[in-house]
Amino acid sequence: MAKVVASIVLAFLAGTVSAANDPHSYADTSQFVVRHVELDLAADFAAHRLQGSATLAVERTDPAARELHLDTRDLDIRSVQRIDAAGQAHALGFLLDDPDPILGSRLTIELPRRPDEPGRLSLRIDYRTSSEASALQWLDPAQTSGPHPYLYSQGQAIHTRSWIPLQDTPSVRVTYGARIRTPPELVAVMSAARADPAASTPGEYRFEMRQPIPSYLIAVAIGDLKFQDLGDRVGVWAEPSRLAAAAQEFADLPRMLEAGEKMMGPYRWDRYDLLVMPHSFAFGGMENPRLSFISPSVVAGDRSLVAVIVHELAHSWSGNLVTSATWNDFWLNEGFTTYAERRLMETLYGKRRAQMEDAIAYEYLTQTIADAQESGQLAETSMRLDLAGRDPNEGISDIAYEKGRWFLGFLESRFGRPAFDAFLREYFDSHAFTSVDTATFRSYLLEQLARPGAPTIPVADMDEWLFGTGMPATTPAIPSGVFDGVDRAATEWRAGRLAVGELPVGNWLPQEWLRFLDEQPADLSDAKLAELRSQFRLGADGNAEIARSWLALVVRCAYEPAYADLERYLLSTGRYKLVVDLYRDLARTPSGLALGEAIYAKARPGYHATIRQAVERLLRPESPGS
Ligand code: BES
Ligand code: ZN
Repeated sequence: MAKVVASIVLAFLAGTVSAANDPHSYADTSQFVVRHVELDLAADFAAHRLQGSATLAVERTDPAARELHLDTRDLDIRSVQRIDAAGQAHALGFLLDDPDPILGSRLTIELPRRPDEPGRLSLRIDYRTSSEASALQWLDPAQTSGPHPYLYSQGQAIHTRSWIPLQDTPSVRVTYGARIRTPPELVAVMSAARADPAASTPGEYRFEMRQPIPSYLIAVAIGDLKFQDLGDRVGVWAEPSRLAAAAQEFADLPRMLEAGEKMMGPYRWDRYDLLVMPHSFAFGGMENPRLSFISPSVVAGDRSLVAVIVHELAHSWSGNLVTSATWNDFWLNEGFTTYAERRLMETLYGKRRAQMEDAIAYEYLTQTIADAQESGQLAETSMRLDLAGRDPNEGISDIAYEKGRWFLGFLESRFGRPAFDAFLREYFDSHAFTSVDTATFRSYLLEQLARPGAPTIPVADMDEWLFGTGMPATTPAIPSGVFDGVDRAATEWRAGRLAVGELPVGNWLPQEWLRFLDEQPADLSDAKLAELRSQFRLGADGNAEIARSWLALVVRCAYEPAYADLERYLLSTGRYKLVVDLYRDLARTPSGLALGEAIYAKARPGYHATIRQAVERLLRPESPGS
């Protein structure tokens, strides 16, 4: 076993960090590196297109290189020009390959070397996006909470190439500027600073991102947006009708930011704002720098889902400041962030709350590993993945998040908390604004472990975490006692010793509801299910996570009376994790699969492409490419 692990490790260590190792990009950074992107785009809401130009500042890293390869998807490229020092444009030859279904089309630009070449080439690409651009969601007024249309982008993982031609790999970092033109009544926001807040004319917005970021973090949203301050450095954007509730829900944002800095070092992005998205947004949250995009389902009314905000904020260090260099190393973003999320939840809301979130998530992780085992896909439970030839979204699973979280929990237990905090801080400081792969992190950890006073961690133990499957033998004890009261009440109720009205739900947190519902067995009787349903009015509405856990129980028990609620939920929820988990549960039995297919046929048009792909993989596991 140790030998196998060692040879796998050697294979991973063979290369250095470069896009040559990123199987999801056509970029060759040994030849050229894009350093800055200047966008000039107009939003055409009638045609569902962005139109304008991207001007790239490019460095030739190999003097012999003559062809620059960029990533694009469904772009209509009008012209490519070199802009000389005097500002004169010179046409360049270019070639757009036929699209690869996963990677899109390689754009090759001919770049003969000139004797007077400056350190950075300036290349202007005139183009427009397709109305089908995978990063862009164009919403009609009916899909928003007001009378105006809305546009937003979602770059992660490899969608930025569908609205900007560039080196779309997280191993390359760029600064960016933008001029965005919108209909005069709408407001544009980006993952960047507003460049001219006062001078701005209606319908024209300028932005500047001075810190280098990976391409998947370039983001834009345009809509009827209003802003409310929540502190000196923090605030929230939303459509007017959502603003007050959002400001209430996220009132702890200043405290969260302070806790983040205390744990992980200075916040390096100046401002931290939230943008509350329309319902179709596919994620709980997306960590666009300076401006996280947040699902409106997080605005539960009782601040019970703020862990999502803490999570996205934590990405300001793990993910945005230090970035996983390829999607195979996605765990470096999400595992670190989930660890930080739980630590910050503990600081902000107490140990009990953090332990609840840990215990619930650990149950899901256990299920994910059991499913992988059963379907002969245990290789998918390695933190370091090999997604070459596959869609990088296939790497989105509890493994990156929760196994990653417990790897850091393991390290914390060996270092001791104060020493581990110092380790983390130094890691962020020494790797700030760089992209790191698993091999680089591994070497860094080995170096730190060689220092005097560091704990002894056998390399084999470390590598079992990074490259092994399932949960390692060194997994720390997962605190489980927090739900003893809930579990006892559940047992008593099932045994008939406690009436449904006697369940002590009066002071249950939403997390306790999740536990109660998640732990019910698949053979719970229809009578018991009916009791729960009517006593607690469980259905498709209210707290989106409680509804998900109830509906998962409905699926587990094939409880037909609640199928209409299941359908309503799946038709109205756009959040990846909630939706995909339910389809996964449905796909476990032939009758569930049939139901899942029937609901999906109706729900499909409303889902984001990322969700469609994931659901179709679940419902048709034998189809090609899965
Ligand atoms: N960066 C992710 C969302 C993401 C992952 C988008 C992969 C595209 C590809 C974000 O930080 C995230 O993890 N969101 C979670 C919330 C979190 C609390 C687990 C979500 O959307 O559920
Ligand atoms: Zn995340």
